[in-house]
Amino acid sequence: MNCDLLVLSGPNLDQLGTRSPEIYGTTTLVEHVERLRRRAESWGWTLEHRQSNYEGDLIVAAHEARAGARAIIVNAGALSHVSWALTDALAMFPGPVVEVHLSNPAAREPFRHVSTLAPVVAGTIAGFSALSYDLALSAVATLLGVPEAL
Ligand code: DQA
Repeated sequence: MNCDLLVLSGPNLDQLGTRSPEIYGTTTLVEHVERLRRRAESWGWTLEHRQSNYEGDLIVAAHEARAGARAIIVNAGALSHVSWALTDALAMFPGPVVEVHLSNPAAREPFRHVSTLAPVVAGTIAGFSALSYDLALSAVATLLGVPEAL
């Protein structure tokens, strides 16, 4: 994959903007990603974004990221709570992986309290709405040594 940073988005995140705006806000996924892209590009980084409603597509993207990407920011949506297969795929990635959520799953229904991804990510940022993505990018950039990351 020919990029510095892969942003990986799971099921239903393509519906952001109109999906439960009281929980997820009204910003679309494209808007979140474009904000990240502008900041990443200011550091000379390239960003690739893959969204899919299918687990296998996300797994393949994680595999492809091993050939070139330096870091992954992942919001796997509800797959975060159930997908050992995506967890295994991300575990193979050699660089930092940061898990991100717009909402705070720990403060929501019990099925959202578990993250299968947690054991293989560098850390998780959750509950700050759009700012979660910005903080995730700051985390990744700090881990990769960008001096102006914070
Ligand atoms: C989410 C939280 C998940 O529990 C949910 O299934 C999503 C979005 C978030 O960004 O807050 O799809 O990952």
